[in-house]
Parts: sequence; C-alpha cells; structure tokens
Amino acid sequence: MDHFSYQDGELFAENVPVRAIAKAQGTPCYIYSRATLERHYRAFDEAVGSHPHLICYAVKANSNLAVLNLLARLGSGFDIVSGGELARVIAAGGDPAKVVFSGVGKTSAEIRQALQAGIYCFNVESEPELARVNAVAGELGQVAPVSIRINPDVDAGTHPYISTGLKENKFGIPMARAEAVYQQAAALPHLAIKGVDCHIGSQLTSLPPFIDALDRLLALVDRLAALGIELSHLDVGGGLGVPYDKETPPLPAEYADALRQRLGQRQLTLVLEPGRAIMANAGILVTEVEYLKHGDDKDFAIVDAAMNDLLRPSLYAAWQAIIPVVPRQGEPRSYDVVGPVCETGDFLGKDRPLVLAPGDLLAVRSAGAYGFTMASNYNSRPRVAEILVDGDDHHLVRARETVEELWRGEQVLP
Ligand code: LLP
Repeated sequence: MDHFSYQDGELFAENVPVRAIAKAQGTPCYIYSRATLERHYRAFDEAVGSHPHLICYAVKANSNLAVLNLLARLGSGFDIVSGGELARVIAAGGDPAKVVFSGVGKTSAEIRQALQAGIYCFNVESEPELARVNAVAGELGQVAPVSIRINPDVDAGTHPYISTGLKENKFGIPMARAEAVYQQAAALPHLAIKGVDCHIGSQLTSLPPFIDALDRLLALVDRLAALGIELSHLDVGGGLGVPYDKETPPLPAEYADALRQRLGQRQLTLVLEPGRAIMANAGILVTEVEYLKHGDDKDFAIVDAAMNDLLRPSLYAAWQAIIPVVPRQGEPRSYDVVGPVCETGDFLGKDRPLVLAPGDLLAVRSAGAYGFTMASNYNSRPRVAEILVDGDDHHLVRARETVEELWRGEQVLP
C-alpha cells in the first residue's frame, strides 16, 4: 500500500496535491512519500519481530540524504556498495556499526574507509578480496568483520540483468568452494568471521527461490559448525519484489515468516537488505506533456522526462504505470510516452491508453527505487528535483541541478 491516491479528481501525495508540488518545483520531479517508506520499513522490522535482526536498507535503490536519514531514525542499517554510499550514510546520520558492505570490486581505499568508520561487516565476494581485506586491516592494526557471499546457484526467475545468484553471474563464491574459503579466512590473522550472505536477484515475486537459497545456506552453516567455524549472522540479501503491474509478490510478513520457520532454533542474527520493497512504491516521477504527435501508425506523447531521468523502461523493458495527475474525460488513445532524448529507446511507457492534452501532468508510478539513483546527465540534461512529502507538507530534498553544474570540473585547453 502507498500514499499516492486520487482525491477530489486529482492525484495526491499524502495530503498534498501533486499539481501544487509540480507548480512550485517545476517538472520533471521525483516525489517521495514519507508515510509510505516508513510503512514499508516497519513492515519488514515487525515481520521479523523478536528474532534478532538487522534491516540493512540497500542504499543503491534511493540514496537521497533525507530518505537515508528517515530510515536511520527508525533504526535501519544500510547495505552499501561503494565508499560514496558509506559517506552518504554517515552524512545522513546513519550508524556505520549497522552497515554491511557488498560488491565485487571494493578498492583498498574503500576497505580502509569502511574499517575506519567501523562497519558491521564486509560481504566478501572473492578470495583475492579476502586477502585484500586482511592486508588493509593488518596495516590499520584492526580485525575486519567478514561474511562470505555465497552464490547458491538458484534461478530467481527474474530479468537476466537483475538476476545474481546463478553460476554464470559474477557475484559471490560458488557453494562448492565455500568451506575451503571459510577455512582460508579463518587462517588469516586480521579477519573475524561473522556470517554468511547471499543475494540471488531483484524483483522476485515468489518465495521458493528465497527458500531454496536459504536452505542451501543453512546446510553450509551446519557444515561449517562441524569444522569449528561458528557464524553469528545470516544475511539473506534483498530482492523482494513489488507490484509494478499485476504482480503479487509475497508480503514482507510472509517472507519473514518463511525465513524464521527455516531458521528454527538457530541463534543466527538475521540480516535483510531490502531496497526496492521499501522505496519503489514510495515515489513517483512527475512529468509534463510537451507535445502530442500523431504519426501514421502511432500516437506519441512527448513529455519533459526522459530515459536519463528514469532508465528502467529503456534498460530492462520495465513496465511502470503512467497515470494522469488530473484525469480528463474522453476517449483514450494509445500513446507511446516518450522523452526528448535522441534515442529510439527513450521511452517511459508504450501503448498506454490515456486521454491527454499538451500541458497535462503525468505521474510514472513505482519510481522511488532505482529511479533518481540511475539518472544521468545524458544530452546535458540537469538531474531533476526531488521532493519529500510529509503529511500536509512537502520539502525540496534535492534541488534541480543547474546547467552550470553540468560542466563543473571541466576545463578548456590553455
Ligand atoms: N543487496 C545486494 C547485494 C544487491 O546487489 C541488491 C540489489 C540489493 C541488496 C537490493 O535489492 P532489492 O531489494 O532492491 O531488490 N537497477 C535494477 C535493480 C538492480 C539491483 C541490484 N542489486 C532495477 O531497476 O530493477
């Protein structure tokens, strides 16, 4: 459930008309709902309930400082994949002691930064990384907390670009090598083995792949215990899907129940890394119709937002609902909703039945995750404003970029 709904014939974000925000801040703009993102965070937190747990929100989904700060206030931890994300978490008031660091390419500088900040755990993805974390920790005279990311080789049944738990994917260590790598880690002096982790993909809409991966991880936990390697946490990654269209993904409560059942009496702290499930439906992208163009075969609605603002439709052929901010009466036409960028792949949606006139506002739904964070300046388009709605109020949480900011740091030859 989210807090974007029609009231008195127009779209509201919580108690604020979207039209009023667009008028005040211009378009395109992202609008987020505090009540929605907090509701989603709490759904996870309450679902895991009394079992010892840490929810590490995946910063890559939406890394606006205001979003991170609201989650930090609720006690959230964070899953990061770069030194930049760690700096953001700290700038937003997040607790580094609740940070897990994922990703296959951690640099020595990033490892140092994370050790100095005192993070909860490194999710190590390869043997060379293990050696590097050990070496950097040694230089700092520290012991690095580590968990090994296992690639459980399960099919998440999602888009190939966002599937990560198959043998052919670059992530994690194959199960067959897991014990050997743990033994290697145990022999390194500057590492403390804390846990095990996996992340099999994103936008999963059913439980079996999660359960399958968890069962494989739990069997490994038991085998490691027999080798004298005791783990204190199990990190199941992120990946719980959201309804973009007619999908019916499990609720956080159903997901967490299934996890807890499988864990049984084991005293492992459960770590979860949800990103999309917290933020996707807590945000919309608002755009204005610039032109309607009626071709021989197609009707186009040319809007002021483009693939550089929201890449998911172009990159993954992702479907996101596009709805009018103020619906009009009339016979719908089937529009391709496209942006001004010079690429055929620049579209936000295809074949959408809409009743439109130039100047109308449209909202692309489910845009709170992997929307702004994947935006670029392609075609020298400044990144758009981000607004966070809180009940009756709305706050600009990131100003629209200026054109001058586009060439900051650039120089012409003398
Ligand atoms: N943990 C790890 C290690 C991850 O790689 C990811 C996402 C997450 C957690 C969070 O997954 P979530 O709960 O959000 O599914 N740009 C793509 C999604 C890429 C996800 C990458 N990893 C999209 O727009 O669909």
